[in-house]
Amino acid sequence: MTAPLFPPISMLAELTHRCPLQCPYCSNPVELMKANSELDTKTWLDLFRQAADLGVLQVHLSGGEPTLRRDLEELVDGLAMRGVYTNLITAGVLIPPGRIHALAEAGLDHVQLSIQGAHADTTELIGHYRGAYEQKLETARRVRAAGLPLTVNAPIHRHNIEQVPEFIELALALGAERLEIANVQYSGWALVNRDALMPDREAVDRQVEIVTAAQERLRGIMNIDFVTPDYFATYPKPCMGGWARDAFVVVPDGTVLPCHAAQTIRSLSFARFGEHSLGDIWANSSAFNAFRGTDWMQEPCRSCERREIDWGGCRCQAMAIAGDAAATDPACIKSPIHARMAMLIEDAQTAAREHKGDEFVYRRITHAREPV
Ligand code: SF4
Ligand code: FES
Repeated sequence: MTAPLFPPISMLAELTHRCPLQCPYCSNPVELMKANSELDTKTWLDLFRQAADLGVLQVHLSGGEPTLRRDLEELVDGLAMRGVYTNLITAGVLIPPGRIHALAEAGLDHVQLSIQGAHADTTELIGHYRGAYEQKLETARRVRAAGLPLTVNAPIHRHNIEQVPEFIELALALGAERLEIANVQYSGWALVNRDALMPDREAVDRQVEIVTAAQERLRGIMNIDFVTPDYFATYPKPCMGGWARDAFVVVPDGTVLPCHAAQTIRSLSFARFGEHSLGDIWANSSAFNAFRGTDWMQEPCRSCERREIDWGGCRCQAMAIAGDAAATDPACIKSPIHARMAMLIEDAQTAAREHKGDEFVYRRITHAREPV
């Protein structure tokens, strides 16, 4: 049975891969795109118009660092005019005074600010950027002064997992409406740095207790979203809410993807906006149809009662660990290679004890891909 085709609701627009920070867990691909590959203003506006016509209700403006695009106000305005909800995902450094206010004036609805550590030294170490922490706090103040709602995004790994209580206090002090405690997902640069980032099991267990108690304590004051670590899971998450179900990603050169890491599945080929309309790509492209619905599933997913809850988990994780994008996500306890996750955790702990793997491979544009 062919999967029913629903309109997309949400879009992640990676406007640029340029970024002042160099976080070793960045979800961008290891082969970054240079500025000269980026779509121009007119093409992004056309793409946003088609997205709104298709049914997209919210656009996450991301990167890299989206505020490096000088036309960001114009892009926000184009979306706001069509009634699309806009969320700016920013690292919060190098943003000149007045810019957040100008974006609010253009119609921006929400800001999500990433903070790498609850202390300045951790933030500087992870982002590889001196003075980042103070700049981020200033950005948070400007967001609130502009009357915009704020989400603090805290990507969690071995080097800051013990700072979770302080992240909660920091987000409250900054007036955030939402805090995302987001354990790093091992794709992109995080996969390269897995041994250096993997927390140990006891720290993960402590974190679960702390976050659960804080969610209860702060009910009605601040929402805390908890993105749990896949490698320690019993069942996987429904990555992207299911492949090509209601969301998609556009990368800086206009290539349209079902998820941010889809290009790691080398057997798929991806269409680019401009050569095809967005509606055509969403409905007909082979990459979007490869894992839509449940027909593609193998056992144990095929006959599992959770197959329309988690949609088999993450295709890119299946590719990275099982070597087969159509396999059950190894994060699932029913996967025949689920035990490999525990081995990978153990390998990372061994590397940490022997001080191997503690050197980050920082995200650098020198790994950049030339325009095609
Ligand atoms: Fe989800 Fe597949 Fe595991 Fe069932 S077997 S829980 S569908 S990943
Ligand atoms: Fe690609 Fe999960 S990141 S499906």
